[in-house]
Amino acid sequence: MGREESRAERLRQQYYIERMRDAVLEETAETGRAPTYYIETLGCQMNAKDSEKLAGILDEIGYVPASLEDTADFVLYNTCTVRENANLKVYGHLGHLNSVRKKSNPGMKIAVCGCMMQEPDEVQTVREKYPFVNIVFGTHNIFKLAELMYRMRTEDRMVIDVWEGTDEIIEDLPAIRKYPFKSGVNIMYGCNNFCSYCIVPYVRGRERSRDRADILSEIRALAEDGVVEVMLLGQNVNSYGKTLDPPVSFPELLRDIEQIDGIERIRFMTSHPKDLSPELIDVLASSRKICNHFHLPLQSGSDRILKAMNRHYTKEKYLQIAGELRARVPGIAVTTDIIVGFPGETEEDFLETMDVVERVRFESAFTFIYSPRTGTPAAKMENPVPEEVVKDRFNRLLARVQQIGQEESGRDEGRVLPVLVETVNHQDSRMVTGRLTNNTVVHLYGDASLIGKIVPVRLRESKGFYYIGELCRREGQAG
Ligand code: SAH
Ligand code: SF4
Ligand code: F3S
Repeated sequence: MGREESRAERLRQQYYIERMRDAVLEETAETGRAPTYYIETLGCQMNAKDSEKLAGILDEIGYVPASLEDTADFVLYNTCTVRENANLKVYGHLGHLNSVRKKSNPGMKIAVCGCMMQEPDEVQTVREKYPFVNIVFGTHNIFKLAELMYRMRTEDRMVIDVWEGTDEIIEDLPAIRKYPFKSGVNIMYGCNNFCSYCIVPYVRGRERSRDRADILSEIRALAEDGVVEVMLLGQNVNSYGKTLDPPVSFPELLRDIEQIDGIERIRFMTSHPKDLSPELIDVLASSRKICNHFHLPLQSGSDRILKAMNRHYTKEKYLQIAGELRARVPGIAVTTDIIVGFPGETEEDFLETMDVVERVRFESAFTFIYSPRTGTPAAKMENPVPEEVVKDRFNRLLARVQQIGQEESGRDEGRVLPVLVETVNHQDSRMVTGRLTNNTVVHLYGDASLIGKIVPVRLRESKGFYYIGELCRREGQAG
């Protein structure tokens, strides 16, 4: 779909937004209150970003956020299917919503969308076992929410609209940002890597990069709106722009974003080791705004397993990149994702993973037990690792990862570093909580007026995975 068609689709959706808005106004006049919505988001930053767009559409229609899920007029589940337990969570919640609907909120409408709904078997399960669900849609057509809600009002059955794939990128969707001062920005959608364990390419479709100009104008608008930190989102940001005409590289895009006034911090995820260019490390080393944090998923340290995972790099290559990052960008935090118990993983393979953990000393690592996903090549592989063996390896890995993380995270104790203050502290309302550029959490005394500001903080005490800090007023305050 070209630019013109995308614009036409946006106008078509505007029509449904207006129709729905009229209906909501009428309803509000009758009931004396605006209808409410509640969005539950599971999964990764992609889903979080999609939920902001869905909230943006609901806001345009005239819905307001509900304080509690159980009292909402419209509940939307944005699902994830990357591991089996993500799916189970959704069905548990749907059961709960059904009993709420029966007992106390008969008018509640329920929609399920996101990655899990891209799988026909899951849609079938919803259809059969959760017939009270009103709308089902997928990842490729979230911009159609108003139209689907319009259909829900007029059709007396479950509205199901799931697209198998798309080459469409709809620009200029409204969004309600969760934070006024930071925002995720999609730079690409989908994934072409087909790591053998991973469902994402099947539920998010082929890789599509957004035009550089669209990304830059979105970020400029965000900056004008008070955003100081952007997180560039893609499953494999290192291959950004390769298929654009003319091609653009990820480092080039970063250089452009660096020039935007008002943006103080740039983050990105995720970086695939196979496409990481020396140019990217150059940009990182010379940038003033790119944060001191690099998320570089390892998955496994065994060359044999990496090959079976279709990851296209070796342990050696990974170690070389991590080493270069540490050498060229002083103080950088390197974090990772690791899967334990991939089919055929031996103790020897596992020890290779542990060896990488020892050598790279990750500031933090997300560790996952391999979960077979129907339709992926790995799900058909032989030699599943017995559950007790996986659990034992997982526990050994987790213990080591946590210990190293704790040792590394205290290293800035006593220093004064900039903190972007994000929220009032959840436990102590006299305190606020923010992050260093390396993503470490810092709690400090201060009030809500600091939220969204980047302030110098003395890191008084390391508490393992976070610091207790103190606001320094003597230095020039940024932000
Ligand atoms: N695009 C990112 C990862 C997206 S999924 C990348 O390539 O790194 C986030 C993480 O979930 C992955 O890094 C992987 O560690 C984990 N994961 C994906 N599929 C999984 C599966 N089938 N079982 C267990 N963990 C999985
Ligand atoms: Fe999944 Fe691999 Fe794509 Fe990441 S790069 S989303 S792990 S297929
Ligand atoms: Fe989950 Fe979809 Fe993200 S499967 S991890 S929400 S892309």
